Amino acid sequence: MKAVIFDLDGVITDTAEYHFLAWKHIADQIHIPFDRSFNESLKGISREKSLETILVHGGAAAKYSKAEKQALMFQKNQHYQTLISKLTPKDLLPGISRLLCELKNENIKIALASSSRNAPKILERLEIIDDFHAVVDPTALAKGKPEPDIFLTAALLLGVSPAECAAIEDAEAGIAAIKSAGMFAVGVGHERSMHAADLMVGQTCDLSLDLLNEKWKQHSF
Ligand code: BG6
Ligand code: MG
Repeated sequence: MKAVIFDLDGVITDTAEYHFLAWKHIADQIHIPFDRSFNESLKGISREKSLETILVHGGAAAKYSKAEKQALMFQKNQHYQTLISKLTPKDLLPGISRLLCELKNENIKIALASSSRNAPKILERLEIIDDFHAVVDPTALAKGKPEPDIFLTAALLLGVSPAECAAIEDAEAGIAAIKSAGMFAVGVGHERSMHAADLMVGQTCDLSLDLLNEKWKQHSF
């Protein structure tokens, strides 16, 4: 294992909850039912795709013009940015700071593969941006998760092959993207959405370099 590639929202910090709150506010406003179970299907996917999914779910796919959709996305992002403006290093999920230290001590490369355009700002607020050797720009990709592009780009930027990478995700679309990139997939969260992962942990505090190495060896040989 030469590199570990991280998803951000729901893996490094709990901003998955902020995305939920900001979309819920929009959905309530346009009278579309929105609960946590439906929100699972939005995890890992782009802002545009998320809005489309919400509108289809509410039977309102054709109801809004392009400009109205832009306005809804802008409003969602404004709300989301207000929520993330309060982030501090204390908002790192348990075990993440320790895992980053363990990786750095072993000279394992670290990259970020987040679909979020807000990712660099969040890494800065969490004061971990300097730990990352590469941060993929999601706007430069042809296809988002569950396609493998974002993870393949991370490997390319790090100068390692996909088979030398492990990647950590909390979303079904993310695990599918990792597997289709030919990498070792680590899922954080509930078993149901993580079934395709090579290693599953319930929470981020269960992650460690020792555990990754142990499962990596069993997987490879
Ligand atoms: C992903 C989140 O990381 O980023 C999605 O899991 C979100 O919920 C996507 O929609 C895009 O984020 P942003 O910040 O660019 O709207
Ligand atoms: Mg995520």
